[in-house]
Amino acid sequence: MKLLMGVEVAARRQVTPAVVALTLRPTKRPAFPPFRGGAHAILVLPDGRRRLYSLVSDPARPESWEVAVLREPAGQGGSAWLHDAAPVGTRLLASHPQQGFGLAEGAARHLLVAGGIGITPFLSMLPELLRAGANFELHFCARSAESTPFLPELRAALGPRLREWIGRRLDLPALLASPAPGTHAYCCGPARMLEAFESATAHWPEGTAHREHFAGLPRAEASQGEAFEVEIASSGAILPVPADRSLLEVLREAGHAVDAACEYGACGSCVVGVERGEPLHRDVCLSPAARRQSLTACVSRGRGRLRLAL
Ligand code: FES
Repeated sequence: MKLLMGVEVAARRQVTPAVVALTLRPTKRPAFPPFRGGAHAILVLPDGRRRLYSLVSDPARPESWEVAVLREPAGQGGSAWLHDAAPVGTRLLASHPQQGFGLAEGAARHLLVAGGIGITPFLSMLPELLRAGANFELHFCARSAESTPFLPELRAALGPRLREWIGRRLDLPALLASPAPGTHAYCCGPARMLEAFESATAHWPEGTAHREHFAGLPRAEASQGEAFEVEIASSGAILPVPADRSLLEVLREAGHAVDAACEYGACGSCVVGVERGEPLHRDVCLSPAARRQSLTACVSRGRGRLRLAL
């Protein structure tokens, strides 16, 4: 992964029993690179594991970042390590900010829908919305007030623009039934909520319903699928991609410097242009428009032969 920065845990606060917020400071530069609300970064743990976290701090304060880590008992140990073994002073590596999700420019109204820890990408959007005096509301769904991260801060900052659905169901089809002109809707939460949001916004104008996923394919599955081949546009070389290897691996082995961060289809850093052919998209980060002309090399594949803009 290129463009990694050294970071240090500068502070920690327990937001709920299962969520810890870590303040990170850069170790070799006075401030982090700029980002807009909704961006994420990838943390590289000392054993090489990579985890993607939304930046929850205000983009206007680049001297530090804050990320919120949910302890995932069924995970692979990355979140538990950050909870239990990363005290203040711990040094890590982090990617530059990546902007897969963010506020639509020029929208007349923003309708935000968050479920549980899915609140995190919205936390850096909210200061931007408040500063701009934007027309917005945030619907926040969670099981109980005690397990809901950042609830007191949100209540204080948003007042009636925060609609709480704590322990009760939000009727997404009803909320999203009639898209008003200029309204953009955004959702981040568990897979079931994202699916419900997708079907409830199926009739919305293209590009006005935005979703943020946190997890792509498990790594073992990410490099498996049907065999296919790619043609490199600049050289005409044909490279076979066997069923048990990823396109990313094959391209790198052939000497192409393709960047990659998450390697499970969630960050978009490995995107490669497609000039011809039928990609089989397996990522969870590209928009429909991006998918028409590119694919993620880490998890996506192709049918037959693809011609790549490399
Ligand atoms: S490396 Fe993140 S989507 Fe491919």
